[in-house]
Amino acid sequence: MQQGKNLRFPDGFVWGTASSAYQIEGAWNEDGRGLSIWDTFCRQPGKTWRGDCGDVAADHYHRYAEDAQLMADLGLRAYRFSVSWPRVLPEGTGQVNSRGLDFYDRLVDALLAKGIEPYLNLYHWDLPQALEDRGGWPNRDTVQYFADYAQVVARRLGDRVSHWLTHNEPFVAAVVGYLFGEHAPGVQDPMAALAAGHHLLLSHGYACEVLHQEIQDAVIGVALNLSPVYPASDSEEDHIAAARYDTVLNRMFLEPLLLGRYPAEAMELLGAFFPEMRPDDMRRIAAPLGFVGVNYYSRTVVRNDPEALLIGATQVHPEGNDYSGMWEIYPEGIYDLLVRIQRDYHPDNLMITENGICVPDGLDLDGRVRDPRRIKYLQDHLAQVHRAMQGGVPVKGYFVWSLTDNFEWAYGFNKRFGIVYVDFQTQKRTLKDSGRWFAQVIAENAVLA
Ligand code: GCO
Repeated sequence: MQQGKNLRFPDGFVWGTASSAYQIEGAWNEDGRGLSIWDTFCRQPGKTWRGDCGDVAADHYHRYAEDAQLMADLGLRAYRFSVSWPRVLPEGTGQVNSRGLDFYDRLVDALLAKGIEPYLNLYHWDLPQALEDRGGWPNRDTVQYFADYAQVVARRLGDRVSHWLTHNEPFVAAVVGYLFGEHAPGVQDPMAALAAGHHLLLSHGYACEVLHQEIQDAVIGVALNLSPVYPASDSEEDHIAAARYDTVLNRMFLEPLLLGRYPAEAMELLGAFFPEMRPDDMRRIAAPLGFVGVNYYSRTVVRNDPEALLIGATQVHPEGNDYSGMWEIYPEGIYDLLVRIQRDYHPDNLMITENGICVPDGLDLDGRVRDPRRIKYLQDHLAQVHRAMQGGVPVKGYFVWSLTDNFEWAYGFNKRFGIVYVDFQTQKRTLKDSGRWFAQVIAENAVLA
């Protein structure tokens, strides 16, 4: 018999799962799809685990109907997915690939037929290679190309999709892609990274304008990778390092979107690397938001490090808590983060657009996938979300990352996040214990904590 309190969520709370095109679709060269920067990046030796790539991934392009049925069996209220820009516009601009749009027609209709609300994300890191060849996100022209792409998708799907996201984690697209070089396109250039960051934010603003022009009832959000930053010690240096790290990781994206300006400390720290900004840029970036999407996985602990690139702070991994294959497990961090966002920015609506954990799942002899660590992670984080909501934070929904195991970027298929197990040799789906558990949470609209 399980102990603990039953934490009920408000009626109408949105329970969903999240995914992204390159991580699940496969069909990399089918039906007219153009190349993305991830197709190119994965083919460069050493960039991904074992050279894994998304050529087939979880074969969602062909198995979307089966996956929609899985979502219905779970009782999902919503499904967050991304559209592959190069599947719709193979060159990123110009000629539209109607067969690419046809896939998303089929997917959206399959979801709606099962009473599942589509949450359509326009961009999850898979820039058309043809646009990268023309300068990519550091090239300001990409902003308009993105707005044009948004219009193409809105005109095809806007009659059935009312919940939109413009971007997933612009920080990661800009910094990991153009500064660290560990994600596509694998560039290592601070000027390029800051220009990419600004243009990703600006393209969000442009796309909001287009979506509102095309779709009367559009509810638009953006998913940000946010993490509360804590000093490794109580020393003044570590506190200062934590503040600098918080400025770059969180405030550099939250404040343009919610306050219409970059943090002054960022301008002091990084001003020399900032791209050309035009008078109207910040107003357009701060377009009214239907919701702020929060992707939370773990907290960040930093120490002062004068040698560290640009911000003089280095992340440390404290002892005392459990760890997954990628992060420290720290549920209190989502509470601290949500309270801080509410305190500093008081957004009208928040969505947890990603939360999940990778654990080394496997099929047991009886065909079950037992993943108690994932159940505990989700349970503990939902309890902290509930605690924040009790304190007045307006969280309207929660999306588990992810429905199925999928391609985990540079980690390839070595990290499993799904509540549904995928055998990548056969593409057979198996509901994990965590999937059964989540179905019960949705049915009861409550979590036992
Ligand atoms: C992210 C991305 C996802 C990842 C997930 C697990 O937040 O990094 O949105 O694509 O796969 O978060 O790392």
